[in-house]
Amino acid sequence: MGERMAGKVALVTGGGGGIGEATVRLFYEAGGRVAVVDRDGEAADAVVKSIDPGGDRLVAISADLTDEAEAKRAVGETVERFGRLDALANVAGVRVWGPITDATPESWSFIVGVNLLAVAYCSKFAVPAMARTGGGSIVNVSSANAIVGRKNMAQYDATKNAVLALTRAMACDHAEQGIRVNAVCPGPTLTMYHVRRRAAARGISVEQAEAEMRADGASGPLLKRMAEPREIAYAILYLACDESSYVTGATFMIDGGLSV
Ligand SMILES: NC(=O)c1ccc[n+]([C@@H]2O[C@H](COP(=O)([O-])OP(=O)(O)OC[C@H]3O[C@@H](n4cnc5c(N)ncnc54)[C@H](O)[C@@H]3O)[C@@H](O)[C@H]2O)c1
Repeated sequence: MGERMAGKVALVTGGGGGIGEATVRLFYEAGGRVAVVDRDGEAADAVVKSIDPGGDRLVAISADLTDEAEAKRAVGETVERFGRLDALANVAGVRVWGPITDATPESWSFIVGVNLLAVAYCSKFAVPAMARTGGGSIVNVSSANAIVGRKNMAQYDATKNAVLALTRAMACDHAEQGIRVNAVCPGPTLTMYHVRRRAAARGISVEQAEAEMRADGASGPLLKRMAEPREIAYAILYLACDESSYVTGATFMIDGGLSV
């Protein structure tokens, strides 16, 4: 893993599970100090305890990032604890299902709130914090389905495409401050979220569902399987650290070939 995040401080949203948790682990293994921010404070605490029990390189922060004041507090507490901010990984996300005829003002405000506004709010406060120490890197997690159509995900896919536009616009606005902004587009990834949903829908155990999904291969990707969260996190690590120093405004497909 090397020391690619040595001396760096990162904030990972949605760090309490799935791709966010895998990102926290990689950043930690790469020598970074990390604020694990999640609406589910217990999940964030559990991640910190499982990776760095008794250590001082991780901190859990409970915050609902759809509230601008909470996003400001999360960034503020990170800087207060670790003294600076070098990387922001906007990983938190939610889904709603169904065609646009099923959408309601409530479902729109829920999904836009997390998938778009939380990204914007965290970035708003991360930019000046990063600029104070000469720059940094923002990595927004979008989705392969931001650019590949499918059924029943209209609202989700729309928010994920909006994140790509936001990424490019932010890259233009903040390049002169030394801040790079990129997006990662995962394909189907084996997170507990998906496993639990399948288990509940089929009335089987989580262990059975997980085994099935590993074998399933999913229908879309050329590589005929789902990603492990860590395979997505490697791309986030690359974009967060200095190895990607000439990369900004990019959309990085980590989708097993789904989008080709
Ligand atoms: N898993 C996949 O197949 C897949 C595919 C493409 C894109 N993605 C994207 O990757 C990201 C992570 O997905 P995942 O599967 O790991 O999801 P997950 O549901 O396992 O984890 C998301 C985390 O975000 C947190 N969160 C939700 N709303 C929040 C809020 N308002 N404030 C703070 N935290 C909040 C949740 O508590 C949870 O811990 C999401 O943006 C998702 O859209 C996932």
